[in-house]
Parts: sequence; C-alpha cells; structure tokens
Amino acid sequence: MHLPLPRGPLTEELLGALRSGADDFYAVLAVAPGAHGEDAALALWVLHELHYRGFADVPDDLEWDPQLVRIRRVLEHDLESRLRGRFTAPEGLSFVDDLLGWVESRDGVSLSRHVHRHADREQVLELLRVRSLYHLKESDPTTWVVPRLGVRAKAALMELQYDEYGAGDPNRLHHHLFAEGMRASGLEPSYDAHLDLAPLEALEQNNAATLFGMHRRLRGAALGHLAAFEATSSLPSRRMAQGLERLGFPDAMVGYFTEHVEADAVHEQLAVRTIAAALLEEEPELEEDLWFGAFTCLDLEDRFARTMLARWGVEEQAA
Ligand SMILES: [Fe+2]
Ligand SMILES: [Fe+2]
Repeated sequence: MHLPLPRGPLTEELLGALRSGADDFYAVLAVAPGAHGEDAALALWVLHELHYRGFADVPDDLEWDPQLVRIRRVLEHDLESRLRGRFTAPEGLSFVDDLLGWVESRDGVSLSRHVHRHADREQVLELLRVRSLYHLKESDPTTWVVPRLGVRAKAALMELQYDEYGAGDPNRLHHHLFAEGMRASGLEPSYDAHLDLAPLEALEQNNAATLFGMHRRLRGAALGHLAAFEATSSLPSRRMAQGLERLGFPDAMVGYFTEHVEADAVHEQLAVRTIAAALLEEEPELEEDLWFGAFTCLDLEDRFARTMLARWGVEEQAA
C-alpha cells in the first residue's frame, strides 16, 4: 500500500507530512477545518486506512498519533453532519418489519442495470477498480462493531461475518474472492492502485462505513447500513454476474457476484430479522440510528451511481 496523489491543500499537507516522516502535524491540523470535497474525503480515507492495513511509506505507530486523531475527528464531524443533514427518519415504520419494503419503494439509480445490458468492457473495468476500495476490505468496517454489542446482537452479527470471512476457508473469504477476480481480469488486486480514480462519492461511501464502524455511539447506524447494504445486494449481484458474462469476464470475477446472489438473500434476512431485531430488543433507543445508517447507505450508492453514469456520458437510467 502506497499513499495516493493529493487532491487539494489538506492532502498536500497531510501526505507530504506522512511521506517525510514528520512527527508533528500541527500545520495539517491548521488547514483541516477549511477542507472540503475530494480533498477532505481523501484525507479522511487515508487517516482511516492507518487503522486497517496502513501504508508501506508511513510508520505504523502513527495510527494513534493524537494530532492525526484530532484531524480525523474534525473531518468525521463534518462528514457526519452532512450525512445527517440529508436524512429524515421515516415516520410510523418499524425497522424490522418495514425495512425491506422501504428499500424496495426507493427508486435509486442502479449501476448493475447498466452493467447488465449496456456497459462496455472499459466501463466495467473502471467500475471494478473504483469498487475495489470497498470490496477489497469488504466486511472489515462492520467488524469494528462486534465488541460494542450485547450478546444476542453480537452472536447474530458473527454468524453473518463468519460467512463473509469464508467460514474458516480463506478461499471463500469474500474480499479474497474479489481480489482473485481482479487478478484474473488483469487488474491490480490492491486498493491503493485504484485510489486516484475514485470519485468523491466512492471515498465517502468508504468513509461513512468506517465512521459508523469505529464509533461505539454509531453502532446502530453501522448495523442499519449493513442491513440496507445486504438488502440491495442479491438482485444487483445477479445483474452484475450476467453483465460480466456478457462481456466475457473470467469465471473468478463472475463468481464473486454469483456468490453474492444466494449469500446476500440469506444475509438480508439475517441483518434485518435477527441482527437488527436483537439490537432493538437490547437497545430500542437505537432504532432511529438504524434508519440513519440504512438511508445513508442507499443515498451514497445513489450519488455514486449518478457520478459514474455521468462520467460515462450515460444520461438515462438503462432499463
Ligand atoms: Fe460478501
Ligand atoms: Fe453479505
């Protein structure tokens, strides 16, 4: 893993300081509050990455540097308040009983529909590269939540995570399956290789998932995000698999999506009826945050899809 290219004044300062082996980040802290857009999103993504696999050119010990944590908090506050500003809690709905219907009633833009019938090979390669930011650490942001739960919600979440992590078999581990699919498709299976391609919306999708996972107070949002994610995966995965087959992608890449057709049909039930239900029995005051996480997941995916379609000059939603 290597540091990406800067995208504005904050990432110029931050990446320069990280690269030079600095142990003082005061100058970075000074510019953080004014940062916005891709510059702020990339800076937060880099700071979050220090808690995952880190960077070859950054000392591991900086993960808990107090100034870097302070900069992270400034950027996270800004992200969370923007996400909350877009959210209105649905009235009179029960998360456990109504989430799946609510998800179905929302009519977001779908990249999988475009891939299914219309996308060309270059567009799909670009999508896989940008999505690798998420898929190559699939499930990791949710794992932060495990120690923050009561026993029933924890046991239920671990059932799902165990499956995502391959049920004891590294060759079934989902983010490894994606890496193998990338390799077979001639793509570098490392997310730093594609980071410079990622639009703001892709960075924010990843930042939001990590934000929810890493903050105990946001455990409800993390599990709401998980439920919405699983509830919008099975059918789109089928379309992705068929679109990739149409374009002659290798079995390893197609297989990643085929795996998710059945797995996520099970996971959506687990995430809503077992995990969210257990969380609400133990902590009923978290229902609004479940909705906040679910809304944010769909809202960010919709914005990401619009950006990618616009990048490809696709104006109308492909039916
Ligand atoms: Fe998965
Ligand atoms: Fe899943």
